Amino acid sequence: MTTVDLSHHISAEARLRKPTAMKEIWRLASRKPNMVSLANGDPPNILYPIKRVTFEIASPTGDDPVAAWKEESSSTPTQVIGATRDGPSVLPVKKAMQYTNGAGHVETQKAITELVHAYHHPPNHVITLTLGNGDAVTKCFRLFGNPGDHFLADEFTFSALVQAAIPQGIKWVPVRMDDGGLVPEQMEKILVNWDAARGPKPHVLYTIPCGQNPTGSTLSVERRRKIYELAQRFDLIIVEDDPYYFLQFPSSSSGTDTTYAPSFVSMDVDGRVVRVDSFSKVVAPGMRLGWITSNAQFHEQLVALTDSSSQHPHAFGQIFLSELFGPEGWQPPGFDKWVRGLGMEYKRRCDFFLDLFTKEVASTGLAEAIPPEAGMFVWTRIHIDKHPRYRNEVAGSEGARGPRTNCKKLMEELFDTCLDEGLVVMPASIFKVGSDPQYSEPGDSIEDRLNYFRLTYCGTEETMKTGLSTLGRALRSFFAS
Ligand SMILES: Cc1ncc(COP(=O)(O)O)c(C=O)c1O
Repeated sequence: MTTVDLSHHISAEARLRKPTAMKEIWRLASRKPNMVSLANGDPPNILYPIKRVTFEIASPTGDDPVAAWKEESSSTPTQVIGATRDGPSVLPVKKAMQYTNGAGHVETQKAITELVHAYHHPPNHVITLTLGNGDAVTKCFRLFGNPGDHFLADEFTFSALVQAAIPQGIKWVPVRMDDGGLVPEQMEKILVNWDAARGPKPHVLYTIPCGQNPTGSTLSVERRRKIYELAQRFDLIIVEDDPYYFLQFPSSSSGTDTTYAPSFVSMDVDGRVVRVDSFSKVVAPGMRLGWITSNAQFHEQLVALTDSSSQHPHAFGQIFLSELFGPEGWQPPGFDKWVRGLGMEYKRRCDFFLDLFTKEVASTGLAEAIPPEAGMFVWTRIHIDKHPRYRNEVAGSEGARGPRTNCKKLMEELFDTCLDEGLVVMPASIFKVGSDPQYSEPGDSIEDRLNYFRLTYCGTEETMKTGLSTLGRALRSFFAS
């Protein structure tokens, strides 16, 4: 139950969706133990050609299990988890492989619910398993979005998902960011000054709070509180897409003292936060498993959508997770040790990258790196105004909307120069959330702020060395042209 009625946020599409009638009958079969069902056309489980599923996984022992795992020597400790057809297992194969409901098997849900409670203590929320954050976020957009609706987003964001909502008729409204991520005062300004002629006021904020993709920024606690207060004041839903939560860095390279930033869902007394997590960055992207934490009403809607589309997450991943958190697996303390180790590893990589960056790139005086506190990305600011062909063409023409500089064009040329030198980077233009120029403020075009590349420290040391020395070289030659 939500404490606040938020049902008006639910889209017309979701309202029209009725629970799948067949799934409703299917649910009756689990009403009490030993129900006899002649109802469902499930393949008999004795015909599943799978007797056992096992996974040999890292053992999170020692102070730094991720560093030990990376070494990959014969003495690196491993452990085996898995399930047999009839058990004893947390989720036996014959059950795991059956059809289930859109939220996933109760055994896996239970493990994830405990995980969520350990890290977020959400007041009144339930979890729904998903096929990862891409699946989850797009389902949330369908849950809340009507054609013509306005949604707010970080002005640079994971564009694949934002684009997915455009054919649905959602119009994006970018919120200005700085090095600390989304600026709450800018969000407030948009909401306070909203022109009704533009259409309905935004009622959803889509944001990436930790190690933001692409800017690497992590919202401070203070900003999170302000943003949540604004969500309450302007009746917004927050879709908190947080795949990099567990990649927050410890304060020192050797420490395990990571203090995880409080999530929006941990502050959510109204049920207006829908939090989206993934195992893609914690286990592996091919896991295709994640979960949504939401109020019970939104959960029911999300289950109905899943029941009538992807059905439910796959059994192999659910076995893996149920056993990982079960008595034979890592259990929550082992998982905690592993993810803290991941945070240390990403910090080590980031420090290595930033040291090289200082030597190879910052030394040119033509670019600077904005150090992240989480995630995989370094947002790299190019001092494009130092380029001899940089023009601030319409400076002084007060009131002009649209771009005033040739930043975009020069950045395209720099991108090509990098390619010619054999280096691929991610240009900021890929991530920008386009806005209606009619409503942008004069002199505030995002096209004049595209002077960034997203770089990653996920590659090998060799890749980082070659990549950054190439970038230094490309910058020097481009700025001399
Ligand atoms: C912000 C953000 N959301 C979602 C995704 C997709 O996650 P998943 O692999 O869980 O679908 C990514 C990255 O891949 C991402 O950076």
